[in-house]
Amino acid sequence: MSLLSGKKILVGVSAGIAAYKTPFLVRLFVKAGAEVKVVMTPSSKDFVTPLTLSTVSKNEVFSAFTIEENDNAIWNNHVELALWADIFVIAPATANTISKMANGICDNLLLATFLSAKCPVYYAPAMDLDMYKHKSTQENFKKLASFETIQIPAGFGELASGLMGEGRMAEPEEMVAFIENDILKKLPLRNKKVLVTAGPTYEAIDPVRFIGNHSSGKMGFEIAQAAANLGAEVILVSGPTHYTTSNKQIKYISVISAQQMYDACHQYFEEIDIAILSAAVADYRPKIVATQKIKKATATLHIELEPTKDILASLGAIKKNQILVGFALETENEVENAKNKLKKKNLNLIVLNSLNDKGAGFKTETNKVTLIDQRGSLKEFDLKTKAEVAKDLLNEIIRFIHE
Ligand code: CTP
Repeated sequence: MSLLSGKKILVGVSAGIAAYKTPFLVRLFVKAGAEVKVVMTPSSKDFVTPLTLSTVSKNEVFSAFTIEENDNAIWNNHVELALWADIFVIAPATANTISKMANGICDNLLLATFLSAKCPVYYAPAMDLDMYKHKSTQENFKKLASFETIQIPAGFGELASGLMGEGRMAEPEEMVAFIENDILKKLPLRNKKVLVTAGPTYEAIDPVRFIGNHSSGKMGFEIAQAAANLGAEVILVSGPTHYTTSNKQIKYISVISAQQMYDACHQYFEEIDIAILSAAVADYRPKIVATQKIKKATATLHIELEPTKDILASLGAIKKNQILVGFALETENEVENAKNKLKKKNLNLIVLNSLNDKGAGFKTETNKVTLIDQRGSLKEFDLKTKAEVAKDLLNEIIRFIHE
């Protein structure tokens, strides 16, 4: 999945011959799963048509401050457009538009939107080599860099004038790769390794029966996905579940029993930065696993159980600089019990699920959690989807790392 999937990308087009490549750029963004809107300078329409761009972007194209509708002038709200965008990409950015961007000139909708933008702004210069080299243009590049406007470097090659040199707009594929790389290197969990446990464990009674629980694994899979989206390399150790993942940043290890989960976690823990243990591990397992299917021979059947190893506590006992996060599912004295668990297992953070909250717990799409950190501070969240809970949890961990 591309890092651009689900992103709202505003593409700005100014009047350069390279604008003929902008529809290809828009198509690549759409193919990557982004939602795209386009804002054009009036003169750029001489180089590429709004019809082409609205067709490939599947959205209306904006180019004037107002549009006429039934004899009324309707205002195109540049502030709204700028706030809508997660990313603003101006391609091509001509010497004229770059100069205006650098100097706060605001005489068209694209420039007004640029001045209103709070999201990361990328621009791809496109001009002839002498214009590119001109001190004034080079000064404008520096000025834009000081505003944290990010340049997608122009390439060397044949220019519209027939001359060879620097100033050729980057190819659409190069622009997409540049933006993806830029996003990746700024992700907060870049270069971090995260271990996540998920799902139930099954403890064998005999070759066909087991003791298990109703955990679906969804919460853990959402945490793994959210961590990968933030740039982390993830090791996801899960008990039996119907969820799967094809995310390349997630190494998926499928286990069945608590012992197998314990072994997998200990195999990786040393190289881990953050461990989030959300699995519903069986606390007990049959002391003896029958080698043959147990026959219905007696009126009652007693299965002697022994405790499984507590994976979370065992990691708490050996942890060095790792951030260790556990879950607690409580039905009474929730906060107090969770705080005790956090202390006993040497955790940095505990996620409290109260079974008294409607919509929280096993086999639900939603969860309602309270996060408690090692200093005892408490943060209560609303009922949310498990994907949103995962994001909240990771944001809290990131805040914790930077404190
Ligand atoms: N956990 C674990 N290994 C176990 C049991 C639990 O890693 N053998 C982890 C879970 O993944 C979860 C946390 O410990 O993060 C839950 O702690 P636990 O003490 O098992 O909580 P409860 O099951 O709620 O315990 P109790 O029944 O004692 O309240």
